[in-house]
Amino acid sequence: MNPIESLFRPAVLLEHEYKVTEHICQVKLNQNENPYSFPAELKAEIEADLLNAAWNRYPTVFPDHFIAQLAGHFGVLPENLLIGHGSNELIYSSLWAILGHGEKILIPEPSFSLYKTVANLCEALVVPVLSNPETLKMDLAELATEIHRHQPKLTILCSPNNPSSQRIPYDDLISLLKMSEGLVWVDEAYIEFSENQSLVDRLNEFPNLIILRTFSKAYGLAGLRLGFLVSSAEIIRQLRKTKVPFTVDEMSQIIASKILKRMDLVDRNVELIKTEKARIFAILKDIKGIQVFESDTNFFIFKVLKNPLKSVFANLVSEGILVRDVSSYTNLSGFLRVNVGTPEENDQFLTAIKTIVS
Ligand SMILES: Cc1ncc(COP(=O)(O)O)c(C=O)c1O
Repeated sequence: MNPIESLFRPAVLLEHEYKVTEHICQVKLNQNENPYSFPAELKAEIEADLLNAAWNRYPTVFPDHFIAQLAGHFGVLPENLLIGHGSNELIYSSLWAILGHGEKILIPEPSFSLYKTVANLCEALVVPVLSNPETLKMDLAELATEIHRHQPKLTILCSPNNPSSQRIPYDDLISLLKMSEGLVWVDEAYIEFSENQSLVDRLNEFPNLIILRTFSKAYGLAGLRLGFLVSSAEIIRQLRKTKVPFTVDEMSQIIASKILKRMDLVDRNVELIKTEKARIFAILKDIKGIQVFESDTNFFIFKVLKNPLKSVFANLVSEGILVRDVSSYTNLSGFLRVNVGTPEENDQFLTAIKTIVS
């Protein structure tokens, strides 16, 4: 260990920085983004508000007006909400509020990698529960057994899950909430694309429930960096203490506030994505060299059956198409992930993958 390294915590030295493989590709299907932006007229309307904003002033520590609007939109009280600079920020600040050295956090695997990273940084003890390697689904009985056995302080259930694209059925989530004495955190980043209903309506029944939502997927605002937690007022009060102040900037609030008033556009884009998703699935499942899984999200994962995975990925890149190599995740050896793009982008991907693996 060199002298500089010795000044850092061992948990930090063991971790790696978050990386997304960057390639300049015309067709970008690697980050589960919404392929649609908003109409130029709406952007022009918002531009005027951005120009009128006081760029020299701090935003409020907790954005009260925006929180009130969001609370109305989701039918909860403002004290049930915590807004952050993307859900990534809320994962960092909230896990830090909950997990201490050696305390248990139960995380299904594979799941969104940031959970494990932050848990490790907190020096918590990660209890993994593996998905079924054939179906990629989580087994209720196994989750319940492990929760019962380990009594984790926190259980993280990403449903529908990234990267497996599978949901935990709604009734299973309710059963797990009922039996857990610890906190249960449900990441609903992809809920708008799911067969499941959101758990937001059930908030008052479960004092241990924390729901994570994002503006980055269905709302098409990944560039702004806005995410929020929905939970009991008591939990939110604690989580506010570790939240980095002022991270929800004025500009993001102005834009998101306008978009919340144009849910017609958001809903239309979600419908377009769902329609494309059904079309892509029908085609992908007939391609011989891959095995695709039904998805509850805006992306698919598929197993490359014969060709070397790295060469399939590289061949797609050379065709100008960027997907995500998820083969290093538990149970996903040989898998790639691709999100639903525009119909033209999807066609380019479908033509390329068919040629490459056939
Ligand atoms: C399951 C899940 N949760 C949270 C996030 C982070 O989203 P945000 O853009 O709000 O930080 C992602 C991003 O891909 C995700 O897949």
